[in-house]
Amino acid sequence: MMNCRTCGHPIEAFMSYGRMPIANGFLTPAQFDQEKFFELAPAFCEKCATFQIVDQPDAQDMFHENYAFFTRTSAWMVKHFGTYAEYAYENWVAGKTDPFVVELGSNDGAMLENFTKRDIRHLGVEPSANVAAVAREHGVNSLCAFFGEETAKKIVTEHGKADVIMAANVMCHIPDLKDVARGFDALLKDDGVFMFEDPYLGDMVAKTSYDQIYDEHVYIFSAHSVKAMFEPFGFELIDVLAQTTHGGSMRYVFGRKDQHRAHARVTDLLDAEIKQGLTKFETFQKFAENCETSKRELVQLLKELKAQGKRVVGYGATSKSTTVLNYCQIGPDLIEFISDTTPIKQGKLTPGMHIPVQPYDNFKVNYPDYAVLFAWNHGAEIRAKEDAFRESGGQWILYVPKVSVE
Ligand code: TMP
Ligand code: ZN
Repeated sequence: MMNCRTCGHPIEAFMSYGRMPIANGFLTPAQFDQEKFFELAPAFCEKCATFQIVDQPDAQDMFHENYAFFTRTSAWMVKHFGTYAEYAYENWVAGKTDPFVVELGSNDGAMLENFTKRDIRHLGVEPSANVAAVAREHGVNSLCAFFGEETAKKIVTEHGKADVIMAANVMCHIPDLKDVARGFDALLKDDGVFMFEDPYLGDMVAKTSYDQIYDEHVYIFSAHSVKAMFEPFGFELIDVLAQTTHGGSMRYVFGRKDQHRAHARVTDLLDAEIKQGLTKFETFQKFAENCETSKRELVQLLKELKAQGKRVVGYGATSKSTTVLNYCQIGPDLIEFISDTTPIKQGKLTPGMHIPVQPYDNFKVNYPDYAVLFAWNHGAEIRAKEDAFRESGGQWILYVPKVSVE
């Protein structure tokens, strides 16, 4: 039992994915005995419709000077952030006097770089020192800190209030969103807006993409749940924009109450969520069954391929793959290695199941018979550049929305 982080109602886990390591905790054999684990179990609060994980490791164990995720590893994501920045600029920045834009979790600066090009005052707030250093190399002002009321007040003292606060794939990482909401209240101008996008609960349920659930993702949001979180702080959901990134995401835009006119898309999405069952507990019992089916089918397929003597590797050592590998107990006996373009991950082993991570070239020089597409959220980008793999007779293994071979 625990209390819902949003409304305080008592809730409990509806299933467990078992013992989980830190999703981005790629490691060397010398670090095996210090590897940290926690139980990955999701809960759903029917009172406020918030989907959340019960236990979460300490933030310092996940976001630190060796953080392994760099936005710039995906050319499409960099392009996406260009579009997101353009949206923010056109709708909420253009025409304002001396505007100021703040981004939470600004990582390597892929988003804010777009504002530096327009000479707009900006500040990135990023707790992982190594990625923030890369942002600075790209001319992006970066403050190495976790965002909350205290950080917000410091920013106001130094830079003044913000017109726009943005975040992408960050808000769902923060367990104490109330402190963030107080920070927004302190930092935003009266007519300012904050906006964030994260993987969307509706997509996760529709596609059984349970790999969105891992230590960093303490929440998988819906419009209902973000309203429940921010309305008590005097904010109003004024727009929602569906995104194709990360396997289906939603951008939520909030202003101070009665400062803006809410777009009709907001009520449309709220209605659609009710129809999809995103406010009902039964939906998540069914989701749990779908996860078990997905696991059974994936393990069976990999065991069959092994019995046939096929070579199977993984493509993309994503944080999401940590949930799949550990929940399904898939190790180096079933997957030879996982190829990844991120230098900090290469030569290391995956968290928990210890599958070797190898440079992308090792995939290319000797194509396997099958490649499990762990980076399925970048599927279009990857397939577009990997024609030669299919032409060599190689096949992709997918597990979202269903376990399949293509
Ligand atoms: P993400 O799903 O959290 O964005 O992580 C994607 C991972 O996949 C990241 O480690 C980089 C890797 N990757 C490749 O190895 N090749 C690619 O073409 C792409 C797009 C990503
Ligand atoms: Zn609740």
